[in-house]
Amino acid sequence: MEASDVDPVIEISAGLAEAPRWPRAAWERVVSGEAPLRIALVAERDGAVVGFAVAALVAGQAEIESIAVNASAQRAGIGRGLMRDLTCQLQRLGIQALMLEVRASNEAALRLYRGMGFTETGRRADYYAQPVEDAVQMQLSPLAQE
Ligand SMILES: CC(C)(COP(=O)(O)OP(=O)(O)OC[C@H]1O[C@@H](n2cnc3c(N)ncnc32)[C@H](O)[C@@H]1OP(=O)(O)O)[C@@H](O)C(=O)NCCC(=O)NCCS
Repeated sequence: MEASDVDPVIEISAGLAEAPRWPRAAWERVVSGEAPLRIALVAERDGAVVGFAVAALVAGQAEIESIAVNASAQRAGIGRGLMRDLTCQLQRLGIQALMLEVRASNEAALRLYRGMGFTETGRRADYYAQPVEDAVQMQLSPLAQE
């Protein structure tokens, strides 16, 4: 992800109910390489950004902060491809475990993660707002599971 990707990334997020609504300044911190260390990827189709994924690295582990694919490009393997690229890059950095949190009702994301070998490690009750909902906590470890 580069500075020129920030606009399309914000646009993709705005069009998806389940995507994060980060302020522009947060995306600018991601592309400027501010701490924490992150891997931030975009997926392109016909030269246009259609998806993105961001993982933050903390204390030898990594956490997915954000992943989304434009509605018109979903179900074509782009989300899985982004996750695979992320895990490959994290593996090369010696990261042993990848964590994430997802809304309990987000069936598409849950299936994607389970299909990659993520397992449920816990729940945070009423973690999300609008609507209030539990977060499912998941982990992939080791990363070379798939
Ligand atoms: C979750 C998301 C990133 C998946 O991206 P995608 O490019 O559509 O996913 P893929 O095409 O790579 O699908 C990979 C697997 O995920 C699952 N999946 C993806 N979309 C699904 C859907 N709508 N319903 C059920 N399963 C789905 C399937 O198991 C799929 O494998 P299959 O197509 O072989 O059956 C996308 O739906 C999205 O952007 N959602 C909104 C944002 C979001 O929820 N982010 C996650 C927050 S934790």
